[in-house]
Parts: sequence; structure tokens; C-alpha cells
Amino acid sequence: MATPTASQASYPESAVARTLLLLLLGWVLGQVTGAAGTTDVTKAYNLTWKSTNFKTILEWEPKPINYVYSVQISHRLGDWKVKCFSTTDTECDVTDEIVKDVNQTYVARVLSYPMGASTTSEEPPLANSPEFTPYLETNLGQPSIKSFEQVGTKLNVTVQDSRTLVKMNSTFLSLRKVFGEDLSYILYYWRASSTGRKTAKTNTNEFLIDMDKGEDYCFLVQAVIPSRKTNQKSPESSIECTNYGKDMSPEMFFIIGAVVFVVIIIIILSVSLYKCRQTKAGHNTKENSPLRAA
Ligand SMILES: *[C@@H]1O[C@H](CO)[C@@H](O)[C@H](O)[C@H]1NC(C)=O
Ligand SMILES: *[C@@H]1O[C@H](CO)[C@@H](O)[C@H](O)[C@H]1NC(C)=O
Ligand SMILES: *[C@@H]1O[C@H](CO)[C@@H](O)[C@H](O)[C@H]1NC(C)=O
Ligand SMILES: *[C@@H]1O[C@H](CO)[C@@H](O)[C@H](O)[C@H]1NC(C)=O
Repeated sequence: MATPTASQASYPESAVARTLLLLLLGWVLGQVTGAAGTTDVTKAYNLTWKSTNFKTILEWEPKPINYVYSVQISHRLGDWKVKCFSTTDTECDVTDEIVKDVNQTYVARVLSYPMGASTTSEEPPLANSPEFTPYLETNLGQPSIKSFEQVGTKLNVTVQDSRTLVKMNSTFLSLRKVFGEDLSYILYYWRASSTGRKTAKTNTNEFLIDMDKGEDYCFLVQAVIPSRKTNQKSPESSIECTNYGKDMSPEMFFIIGAVVFVVIIIIILSVSLYKCRQTKAGHNTKENSPLRAA
């Protein structure tokens, strides 16, 4: 009597469980096919050029989920060149394309493709970049001071001529070679004891300025292209200072050297004197020990 009641009770329970299971399966299948069916491909946005000394990277948003991007670049009348094919990145280095002609105006576009289907017949979502003219728009990188030298009351400062990725006859051109006389450097200099900045300008990479005698100076440089409307100036270089202490350093070196030499001599002398005495003392004890033992 207990058995039928048990089976009667269990039958509806398993039916409910089965229905629930089917519902769950259906929901899972629906989710899977839904995801595969929609293939959410997002159009890229916020396309921006990041360029310094002609090293040029196109950046965009958003990070792709289950799709990929391809980038194409062209100058005004040219064909589209494919860069960064089927990438999940949100940036693409296009330097080798734009250095072919830095005076051209380029435009790039970012296409979004479903994963593993980079050649769909359908028109992929596509976003265009702003125009970019490397010669006018690339940022000037932070310059550095290659060397400086004080000659009497003159200070000679030489700016490092940085290498770019622009090639000619298969050699990389320096920034000066690419921009020629369009590029200037500004030197900001001041007496170490004051803060009043003076400036000097050159369209070579060298400065020769007058200094007050016996004063230390600090200075930094900045690259500038005066003919540009925007992006005229580079960041400032790090600061360098002259140092009269440095000028005296050969003398100081000699004095310190002499002192060290004297100290070493004294140490050697005292050590050998001490040893001398010890051996004498040792002789004494050796001579004495048999007596003591006896
Ligand atoms: C992207 O562009 C939108 C406007 O188009 C702007 O509101 C947003 O701040 C930008 N995002 C970033 C990270 O630059
Ligand atoms: C680019 O244009 C500038 C100014 O218009 C010119 O001085 C320079 O020689 C040009 N550079 C190249 C590589 O064509
Ligand atoms: C300044 O220094 C540079 C590099 O040391 C040197 O080539 C140049 O001849 C110097 N100029 C003057 C005017 O002393
Ligand atoms: C590059 O080579 C050509 C000929 O091959 C020459 O006329 C030109 O002066 C060279 N340019 C540079 C910057 O060396």
C-alpha cells in the first residue's frame, strides 16, 4: 500500500523535473543560437592619430568582443592599403605608410568584421578617421641636450638631432634633415642664482651665448616650427647646469689623490712597523717559552 502511493507521488515530481529540464535546455539553446545569430559587430569610434616625430599610430574604440577590426589607409587620390588585418587591438601602427610621403594628407578607416569572417560580402560597419598630414601635424618629441661647453665667457650648447623613421636612399633622416630650416630650437637659460629666464633661438642645432664671468648657468631647449598654426612646440628638454666646481675638479682630483696616497703610505708604514715589533716579540716569547715550560 505504501509502494503505489510512493510511485503516484514520484510520477508528477519527475514530470515537473523533465519539463523544467526541457525549458532550461531550450533557454540555453536559445542563448547560444541567439549569440551566434546576432554577431554584434560594433562600428569603431573616436579615431585619433597619435604621432610624434613621424612615429604614427591610429587609435580607436571600443575593445572588440567576438569580432575583429581591419585598418585601411590612403592618401587623397591613392588606393586603400590594408594594415592591421583581423586585429583585436584598438590601435594600428601606420608609420611605414605615412613616412613614404610626409607631405601627403592621409585618411584611414576602421572596418569591423565578425570573428573568422574577414571577407564578408556584406558591407562591414566602417568608421573614417580625421585627415592627417604628417609634416604639419606630427608632434615634436622632447629634445635632449647632446653636449655643452664653456669657452671663456661663452657657452656652447649642442642639441641632439634625433633620428626619425623617415627614410631617404635607405637611410633614416634626422629631424633637421626632414624639416630643414622650418625647424628651430629655443634655448631658455638663467643664472643659477636667479630665476629670470633669457631666451636664444637658432635654426641650426647649436647655440653660442654670452655668460657673466664666474656665474653658473642652467638651461634647457625646446624644438619649435614657427610656420605651423598648431603643434608648434615640443615639450621642454631636461635641465642642464654649468658647474664651476666641475672646472676645478682636476685640481680637486689631484688633492684628493695626494691625500689618499699619503694615508695609504701611513697605513703601510704603521702595519709593517707593527709586524716588525710583533716578530721581535715573537722571537722573545719563543726564546722564553722553553724556559717557561721548564
Ligand atoms: C569619444 O568621443 C565622444 C564623442 O564622440 C566623447 O564624448 C568621449 O569622451 C570620447 N571618449 C574618449 C575616451 O575620448
Ligand atoms: C614638405 O613640404 C615642405 C614645405 O612645404 C618642404 O620644405 C619639404 O621639402 C617637403 N618635404 C618633402 C619630403 O617633400
Ligand atoms: C660647439 O660645440 C660643438 C660640439 O662640441 C662643436 O662642434 C662646435 O664647433 C662648437 N662651436 C663653437 C663655436 O665653439
Ligand atoms: C639619394 O640618392 C639620389 C640619387 O640616387 C641623390 O641624387 C640624392 O642626393 C640622395 N639623397 C640623399 C639625401 O642622400
